[in-house]
Amino acid sequence: MEKRQELFAGKAKSVFATDNDDFVILSFRDDTSAFDGEKIEQLSRKGEVNNKFNAFIMEFLEKAGIPTHFESLLNANEVVVKNMKMIPVECVVRNVASGSLCRRLGVADGLELTPPVFEFFLKNDALHDPMINEYHIETFGWATAEEVSKMKELTFKVNVELSKLFADAGMILVDYKLEFGLFKGEVVLGDEFSPDGCRLWDAKTRKKLDKDRFRQGLGGVIEAYEEVARRIGVPL
Ligand SMILES: Nc1ncnc2c1ncn2[C@@H]1O[C@H](COP(=O)(O)OP(=O)(O)OP(=O)(O)O)[C@@H](O)[C@H]1O
Ligand SMILES: [Mg+2]
Repeated sequence: MEKRQELFAGKAKSVFATDNDDFVILSFRDDTSAFDGEKIEQLSRKGEVNNKFNAFIMEFLEKAGIPTHFESLLNANEVVVKNMKMIPVECVVRNVASGSLCRRLGVADGLELTPPVFEFFLKNDALHDPMINEYHIETFGWATAEEVSKMKELTFKVNVELSKLFADAGMILVDYKLEFGLFKGEVVLGDEFSPDGCRLWDAKTRKKLDKDRFRQGLGGVIEAYEEVARRIGVPL
């Protein structure tokens, strides 16, 4: 597969065309951002760690029967994925209260959520990714009702699979964000799953092992990502 021109540069990854219209290359950079791009830093090795972490998770989910965009790991920082029309919506599942949920509803950080909470957010930095519901998605044409129910079904299936994967390695999957796209008419998991887009706590000490270390200036960000990777068996 031949790498062609850059199509888009996001906050953490760049998308490149290939000689095959069905595939694009995602290039994971070291750029790390928080608060809708207000805080930006370069964290050495982050691109490589997240690329390998994401490849491991996508292959794991594919084996569990969840359709993903993953095709093949190209090199340390790049992956070949299906070229999708992305649905501009983020799907979030929360198993434990933290972050914006606590600020919004005044609930205690660390409260166990039974059943888990599902939320949709619109991908729009200028509007600060506002929370939306099924009606907004259908009315404004971001996805059909059928696609919405598929995204929900797959996001909850991911919760079952990944909660167990991390629990078996001594961690709590507190919450996570997924993005989906359409590939040949099918709703497929896209973008990335890495410690940049989820919260993971050590089950015993509740030490944060995710991007909250960056948001809150706790240090040891990449060391924490590498620890998670090592515990679940990601070859780094
Ligand atoms: N399989 C795919 N096909 C096409 N585009 C994809 C695919 N997977 C992810 N993307 C898109 O690639 C971009 C990845 O870059 P990055 O995550 O850095 O963007 P971002 O700064 O979060 O911006 P955005 O708000 O657009 O996601 C995102 O726009 C994402 O939706
Ligand atoms: Mg992104």
